[in-house]
Amino acid sequence: MKATITLALLVLATTCYWEVVQTCSSIEQRYKFTNSDIYVRLRRGAKLQYELMKGTSSLQTVTLDNFVTSSDLELTSTGSYKLSDGTSSIEFTLVQSGVVSGTGSDITHIKVARNDVAAGSQPRDCFTLDQSEIHWFSGPEQKAHYWPVERQQHSNYSYLPKELDNFGVGERYWLNSNGVFIFVESNTPLFIDQNTGDYKNKLCLSATAALPYDSRVTSSKFVYHIGLGKNAKAAHKYAVKTFLGQPTGYPDERIVQYPIWSTWALYSRDIDDAVVREFAQNIVDNGFENSQLEIDDDWEICYGALTFRESKFPNITKLVEDVKEMGFRVTLWIHPFINKDCVDIYQEALELGYLVLDHAGDPSTQWWNSETAAATAIDFTKPEAQEWFTKRLVRLQKEHGIDSFKFDAGETSWLPPDPVLQASESDIISPLQAVGDYVRTVASFGAMVEVRSGQGTQDLPIFVRIVDKDSEWGWNNGLVTLITSLLQMNLNGYPFVLPDMIGGNGYDDSPPNKELFLRWLQANVFMPALQFSFVPWTFDDEAIEITKNFTALHAEYAPYIIKQFKRAVETGEPVNAPLWWVAPEDKVAQGIYDEFLLGDDIIAAPVIIEGATKRDIYLPEGQWTDGNNADTVYTGPIWIMDYSAPLNTLPYFIRVGFEMD
Ligand SMILES: *[C@@H]1O[C@H](CO)[C@@H](O)[C@H](O)[C@H]1NC(C)=O
Ligand SMILES: *[C@@H]1O[C@H](CO)[C@@H](O)[C@H](O)[C@H]1NC(C)=O
Ligand SMILES: *[C@@H]1O[C@H](CO)[C@@H](O)[C@H](O)[C@H]1NC(C)=O
Repeated sequence: MKATITLALLVLATTCYWEVVQTCSSIEQRYKFTNSDIYVRLRRGAKLQYELMKGTSSLQTVTLDNFVTSSDLELTSTGSYKLSDGTSSIEFTLVQSGVVSGTGSDITHIKVARNDVAAGSQPRDCFTLDQSEIHWFSGPEQKAHYWPVERQQHSNYSYLPKELDNFGVGERYWLNSNGVFIFVESNTPLFIDQNTGDYKNKLCLSATAALPYDSRVTSSKFVYHIGLGKNAKAAHKYAVKTFLGQPTGYPDERIVQYPIWSTWALYSRDIDDAVVREFAQNIVDNGFENSQLEIDDDWEICYGALTFRESKFPNITKLVEDVKEMGFRVTLWIHPFINKDCVDIYQEALELGYLVLDHAGDPSTQWWNSETAAATAIDFTKPEAQEWFTKRLVRLQKEHGIDSFKFDAGETSWLPPDPVLQASESDIISPLQAVGDYVRTVASFGAMVEVRSGQGTQDLPIFVRIVDKDSEWGWNNGLVTLITSLLQMNLNGYPFVLPDMIGGNGYDDSPPNKELFLRWLQANVFMPALQFSFVPWTFDDEAIEITKNFTALHAEYAPYIIKQFKRAVETGEPVNAPLWWVAPEDKVAQGIYDEFLLGDDIIAAPVIIEGATKRDIYLPEGQWTDGNNADTVYTGPIWIMDYSAPLNTLPYFIRVGFEMD
């Protein structure tokens, strides 16, 4: 009895220590949700904080950066709690408390909602990143794609798919190694601050009705959810069930097994009938398999015409026929733009009302294949525009025998600034709607489709491509970021990741050298699909042989990749997860960024450092057979130091008991 009292006093004393402004009697403001042991507690220090608690244990503390009030929480008729500063209010609702099946964990889920953010204000709620103790995952796709993501830096960063930083996919979702997740609703005009200015070691969410969101509204929403499970895996499983969704089917199996061959990185826009024939012939002559040959930019008479330029492709029907005869399927690069110099189709789309306009009625925008204000974007938030675009593509397929398409772009920054869009179901007009509507429209072309942007489209059975990588090794959009982008996409709920061209895109006339090309291929082997454009026969015979060996290794494991696709459809689990997925409490595994899992049974640890011929490898708990030497079995957790990996070697490990399918 006495011990309990002492403990209670101690708890109170610690609390008092934190609170310098208020007296101890006013700080113990804990508000219990009915029929639960979950509390919201207000802490009045230099800034107002709220702390979510389960009994006496703290679940998460959040600092209200610019919300000042001396009010208490008020219980509402629905059992939620409301905190008001006189003009606006925050409502806390307990959504879930208890064991949730499929997660194997007790889950606490609280919704934090402001429904009345006044124009001109920008409320901001901050989470401590606690970098020395915990790791953070998910968040946006980035060029400098640090992982775990607590190292990323953002300043008043509008959070929606955009060209800047290669932000193609980024759900409003973060997860940490303590088992906490944050999910922000799409109705929120979200900005984030992370590790910059006053927000060092913090991740802050804020909302304001400003561009690139609709700046005309007089009041906006700022709604997010905090979930807690016993660890990151349990929390993520709940987030998948509740917010992210899971795929309803999986993409084409032949793309998993055999490489895509794209004209893009190798030939750039200098393609024509002869180039495509030569490319196809070289692939066949060098003894490589294919899933398809992709005709990339530049094939149209003008951008948006969806008609082949006859000076380059005198008879595309015949070309496609002949290339198919050689054993290929043929796909075509497509973008969602119409350049103004494509006069006929531009006029048609404008008159039909199928272009995105700004509020002055101007459709002008630009992209990487136009001058400033010389292009327009099709309005995929309009069903009639979707249908019109789809029909024109179907015609292209029927006339020329094109099997499927690579759909580029889709990010919000390609729209005219301050666009007029059709209202979504939730009646919030957000540029996010345009991303999802584009991706859903093009997904109707089936299992061979690839896109490179996404927004709430995890359910679609299509590949999502990582945005163009550069032919570099490092964090500057180089090889290491191939792995970190893979992990990020998987934890955003997009498991059918299509890595971009092997060796990077070779932009600025810097193609990959042999070493970078081969290390890139190795890193790609245990990812869902291989996509070549640079080719090994421009190097030497050794490069061809090593490329053949790893292409074969990938094909050998295709059944296991497809098995993981099926698992993703059934359970929403990642295909390529970070190592901690099989050891959620393992502190070392939580911090690893240069190894990854395929399913639960394969660990890939590619060499991603220039000049390196060995590397250190961490294996979490379990028994792991060395993929390069079946006689060696490691028992994790273990560090293998200086694992030898000359240029023909990819370190990988297979769980004892592994089954291919
Ligand atoms: C954040 O950016 C938006 C859009 O540019 C702007 O309206 C807002 O004032 C900025 N907030 C801060 C704190 O700088
Ligand atoms: C193009 O090729 C197709 C298929 O071989 C053929 O039927 C057609 O006549 C050709 N068109 C022209 C204009 O030569
Ligand atoms: C490619 O694989 C074959 C068969 O396993 C092997 O004998 C050969 O040494 C490999 N080539 C290279 C360059 O590693």
